[in-house]
Amino acid sequence: LHHVEPLLYTQFCLQIPPVIRFACLVTLKGKKHATYYESCELIPKQKYSLFSLAGSSNAKLKLQSKRMSMDFFETIKSRHSIRAFLDKPIEPDKLRMILETIRLAPSAGNLQAYTVGVVYNDTLKKRLAEAALGQDFIAEAPIVLVFFARPDISSARYRGRGADLYCIQDATIVCTYAHLAATALGLGSVWVGAFSEEEVSKILNAPAQWRPIAILPIGYPAEKPIPTSRRPLAQTIVEYH
Ligand SMILES: Cc1cc2nc3c(=O)[nH]c(=O)nc-3n(C[C@H](O)[C@H](O)[C@H](O)COP(=O)(O)O)c2cc1C
Repeated sequence: LHHVEPLLYTQFCLQIPPVIRFACLVTLKGKKHATYYESCELIPKQKYSLFSLAGSSNAKLKLQSKRMSMDFFETIKSRHSIRAFLDKPIEPDKLRMILETIRLAPSAGNLQAYTVGVVYNDTLKKRLAEAALGQDFIAEAPIVLVFFARPDISSARYRGRGADLYCIQDATIVCTYAHLAATALGLGSVWVGAFSEEEVSKILNAPAQWRPIAILPIGYPAEKPIPTSRRPLAQTIVEYH
């Protein structure tokens, strides 16, 4: 080990303290061999920010996805809703992978008319659980993502169709990506749609124009997924020859 350089993570959200990570550049026979990133243990569990000044790259995403994830079809097949979570934090790299995956989602006119709230705070999680008709597992999860549709972004180009449809679809797609990325990384999550939009917006102090469309608690599963049935293909498609 030849070089250790501390990198400061940006303080993305005021509720999150800054985090120090260490980048370790490993050289072999004078040539750069690898760079490892390690989180600093000086901060309390689950209190980390995601946005490294070192930035992110697709190369890193690819590298990590090879190491930590499962095959696409295996992910699709194994995904089921998880409503019980271990008291175990999500590794910052995994959370970051989920959020980087979200960024790659398609969106109407590439406007990306969504915002994702990343909730670490226990009090906020409890209040979200109450706003979701007492779905207490939300408060158990180490991380809760809240997906907002942004009609203010969409309507600027697409007017009514942007405000009523495209921004909802954009936010829905990114929630799906996050749900699947979590599965691929060995995490559990459940799509929560039953909540008071008004209360969720109030709890997270969201601007009036943002519309919360889904809550996704994520964590290590504390239950086995329950297999669920699906309508047969013949009932779900119409063919046009
Ligand atoms: C739009 C939407 C809203 C949902 N809302 C809730 C919810 O509020 N609470 C909950 O426990 N599950 C919710 N779910 C999860 C579904 O119940 C679940 O995906 C479905 O029963 C199929 O089970 P599986 O995900 O385990 O395959 C929701 C799923 C979707 C797609």
